[in-house]
Amino acid sequence: MRLILKNPVGIATCSANGKLSKKGSEMSDVGMVTGADIYIENGIIREIGKVEVPPDCEILDVSGKTIVPGFVDPHTHAIFGGTREREFAMRARGMTYSQIAAAGGGILDTVSKTRETPKSKLRSQAAKRIDRMLSWGTTALEIKSGYGLDFKNEIKLLEAANELREESIPDIVVTFLGAHAIPPEHKNDRETYIKILTDELLPYIQKKSLAQFCDVFCDEGFFTVDEARRILAASRVAGLKVKMHADELSSNGGVNLAVELEAVSVDHLENISAEEIKALGGSDTVAVILPAVAAYLRGRPAPARELIDGGCAVALASDLNPGTSMVDNMQTVMFLAVSLNRMTVEESLNAATINAAAALGLSDRLGSIEVGKQADMLIVDADDFSYLPYHFTENRITNVVKNGTVLEFS
Ligand code: NIG
Ligand code: FE
Repeated sequence: MRLILKNPVGIATCSANGKLSKKGSEMSDVGMVTGADIYIENGIIREIGKVEVPPDCEILDVSGKTIVPGFVDPHTHAIFGGTREREFAMRARGMTYSQIAAAGGGILDTVSKTRETPKSKLRSQAAKRIDRMLSWGTTALEIKSGYGLDFKNEIKLLEAANELREESIPDIVVTFLGAHAIPPEHKNDRETYIKILTDELLPYIQKKSLAQFCDVFCDEGFFTVDEARRILAASRVAGLKVKMHADELSSNGGVNLAVELEAVSVDHLENISAEEIKALGGSDTVAVILPAVAAYLRGRPAPARELIDGGCAVALASDLNPGTSMVDNMQTVMFLAVSLNRMTVEESLNAATINAAAALGLSDRLGSIEVGKQADMLIVDADDFSYLPYHFTENRITNVVKNGTVLEFS
């Protein structure tokens, strides 16, 4: 299959110039190319430039339009039962996320709704979310477990994620987040639950190849740094790569552990300290920030400026989940990153593409428009890609190109 995208106004390539991510000031450059077409063969970008049309080649005239890489959403909890609008209203009346969690709400509320929902329903509800995400431009995403919190239900979620991985158009990466919270039945003996994670779930996940990453919610009221270290050590033995939720509610040393373990990414970082920013800036661990969370929790936004100025590779993600981010749209996330986290529009695009792919360890294949990469691209009906975060309620993406196939959305 051959395809030429002809006469775009510009192509924001988001190329990292041979590196796996863009760090610090490199994030200001979106690698804009003008006066070029894109030639795609069998789902791979073959040429960027003025291309002679070969025989049997589909031509898509994209005059007046801009092309950007498909968005990668590297942190979602897209499979869950129920919703939590009541907690949203409770927080608006002054209760905090931690107070609601300590009273048995929060994650544990979604756990009980998820446990009672059959796998087929969880899967079909998530499939609808993924379709919406694709229409907003997300061509690859991560899905975490973490609302099962016992053997049977964590496996149910991982199996649903793997079924979605088979049947969905976007690429899907699966993360095991059994360490999302201590389940109510082990409230008074957390050690037993940690042993279920390390000695039962992780070996089974390895045997059945159910996940690529392991994540731990390392924060006040959830898992300590020492517990995270044990769980992540066991996950390495099971062949999984490391991610962490850290510094969302407090600064407790999780980032230093992520750097020490050479985690692929460390996510949240609303309360990261200056020393931790320094450590992260000197590492290859991607800093994933989730701007919708601060908006939903009325909290402090992650210090994107300090992270970028400190030399970090910053990525953006939706954190789609029923508690702290009912956001499935990376254009909205880019808007929030610019307005709340004070990123530039150029930084927000690199953070939603090449650096987001790096946060999944996939930037050798995804996240930028370069010869040899997978042809995942968005055709934007605007002469400047800034239109995407600027008017995020209107979807200006007319076509998503996924693996070289043109999908139409408006
Ligand atoms: O990334 N912080 C932990 N996990 C989610 C929240 C999950 C929930 O509240 O259901 C997050 O924000
Ligand atoms: Fe999360």
